[in-house]
Amino acid sequence: MSSPRRVVAGNWKMNHGPGAAREFAEALDLPISEDLDVVLFPPSLSFASLRASLEAKNAPVALGVQHVHHETSGAFTGEVSAAMAAEAGARYVLVGHSERRQIFGETDDQVRRKVDAVFEAELVPVLCVGETLGERKASRLEEVLGRQLGAVVSPGAIQERMDAGQALIVAYEPVWAIGTGETATPDDASQAHRFLRGRLREWTSPETAARTPILYGGSVKPENAAELLSAPEVDGVLVGGASLDPDSFSRIIAAVGPGTQ
Ligand code: PGA
Repeated sequence: MSSPRRVVAGNWKMNHGPGAAREFAEALDLPISEDLDVVLFPPSLSFASLRASLEAKNAPVALGVQHVHHETSGAFTGEVSAAMAAEAGARYVLVGHSERRQIFGETDDQVRRKVDAVFEAELVPVLCVGETLGERKASRLEEVLGRQLGAVVSPGAIQERMDAGQALIVAYEPVWAIGTGETATPDDASQAHRFLRGRLREWTSPETAARTPILYGGSVKPENAAELLSAPEVDGVLVGGASLDPDSFSRIIAAVGPGTQ
């Protein structure tokens, strides 16, 4: 059974316009180990600039978008579609990030429809799930993660896509660790990842569960990336704040480079 690819992803959120994106690409340290997938999620308006600058230096960095609408086109002012993201050169789409759920009120049903649209455009959804501090304290971790994952991966729902060779990435991002400087311990991360992998096994197939990367996100930094990535069941990291600086993002890539697994 194949094991998941290791992934280092950077979510810039609403930071870095086209100029800053170009400067970031110019300063990014290469080479990047071949067994690592590095992905950046810039704001949509900076996408073309980042793409051109990365291509100019032959950087093996894939790109994704932070948000799409579930329809392909139409009267949806302000939105972009997965098909447009694919045409612009994206390979990944973030779906269900806690900021989208909390600030913009995205529901599990909207997340499910977006994942469908992302698959339809033959892109890879990076499905973010995670509990709030209150939910963790109330011992509702598994209930919340199970509900958020189940909205997308209910029994049979995506197995056909997986059998056809499409890929899904899951990111466990405890809400209390996002942008707070607080990181889950490697044990906390492993426990949540083990639960998610178990559900994937139950709802898809052992093969799909084994090859689906499960990333940890929440205050990942150069100092803690290697330790988190060496925890059982952690296949990569989704980095917010520390992905904005080319030096710290390069150091995270180096920290999880070859030889740590
Ligand atoms: P952070 O954000 O690394 O700044 O905590 C992570 C995320 O929101 O993906």
